[in-house]
Amino acid sequence: MGMKRAMDEKTVVLGGGSLGLLLAGKLYAAGLKCVVWTRTREQAARLNEDGLIVEAGGGESASRLPAVACAWEDAAPAAGIVLLAVKQPALTERLLKRLAELVPPGGTIVPFQNGVGHVEALREALPGREIVVAVTTEGALRMDANRVRHTGAGDIRLGDDGRSRPERLFAVERMLMQAGFSVFLSKQLDKETMRKLLINAVINPITAILRIPNGGIAESPERLALAEALFRETFEVLGPHGLEGESDLWQAVLRVCEATAGNRSSMLQDVEAGRTTEIDSINGAIARMAAKQGLDAPWNRAVTALVKAIH
Ligand code: PAF
Repeated sequence: MGMKRAMDEKTVVLGGGSLGLLLAGKLYAAGLKCVVWTRTREQAARLNEDGLIVEAGGGESASRLPAVACAWEDAAPAAGIVLLAVKQPALTERLLKRLAELVPPGGTIVPFQNGVGHVEALREALPGREIVVAVTTEGALRMDANRVRHTGAGDIRLGDDGRSRPERLFAVERMLMQAGFSVFLSKQLDKETMRKLLINAVINPITAILRIPNGGIAESPERLALAEALFRETFEVLGPHGLEGESDLWQAVLRVCEATAGNRSSMLQDVEAGRTTEIDSINGAIARMAAKQGLDAPWNRAVTALVKAIH
């Protein structure tokens, strides 16, 4: 039997943070199998011993689901689908190298990161793998190593850019739909990515710097003015990247603030936990895109510097 056929076809969630635990929890709750590859052995042991607890909305109900986990250091190579749910700063050269050992050519990787730059890094480090890009607005909050709260139902957009084999794309779509997510295939994922980048560029640094939930942005004229200034500058930079002519984006930002009013943004969660944030791949990336267009982006540069200075 060839190497490939001997290798398990399995679904993996790489990352035991908020989104990784939510993805795994929903898969388990729907009776689907998956293994969670965690950064630490401690977290894997906790998941294996105590299961994964998923809390609904405000924490009013919770279910404990049997889980299978192992640290990515100890994992065995797996053909199949890997849902990549680590943050941008965790996508280090070491992890990319390990992924190349763990996911054979022909395997499918589904990156869920905020910001930009990760897809190119993955394509370069992992030639021959299918990359199905995902952009999500699901809200999740990790409460403990084996406990996550689903703070806001959003959707998952999968990139149908013609580069993934349709059967892999449909397999990912089917699996996520079976797990209960709202899934859409998008031929315009670059545009979706830019829309999400714009939303993250406004909400994430402001909530992280002011330490407020997303809804707090709309609570005072001063905060709204700050958000709008950051929005205007970012919109100008991202216009030539597919957002030109989009007239409702400021309203879209406000809608996300409202729909996720009680959420602590992922950047605020990182700041509060003392972790490196995604600022470099969000506002830092926008400042670099601006420079390439001969523009200055002082608001983006300032929030990047401020968030970096927190630690
Ligand atoms: O990064 C986040 O927290 C989320 O992408 C969003 C949409 C800003 C909601 O909190």
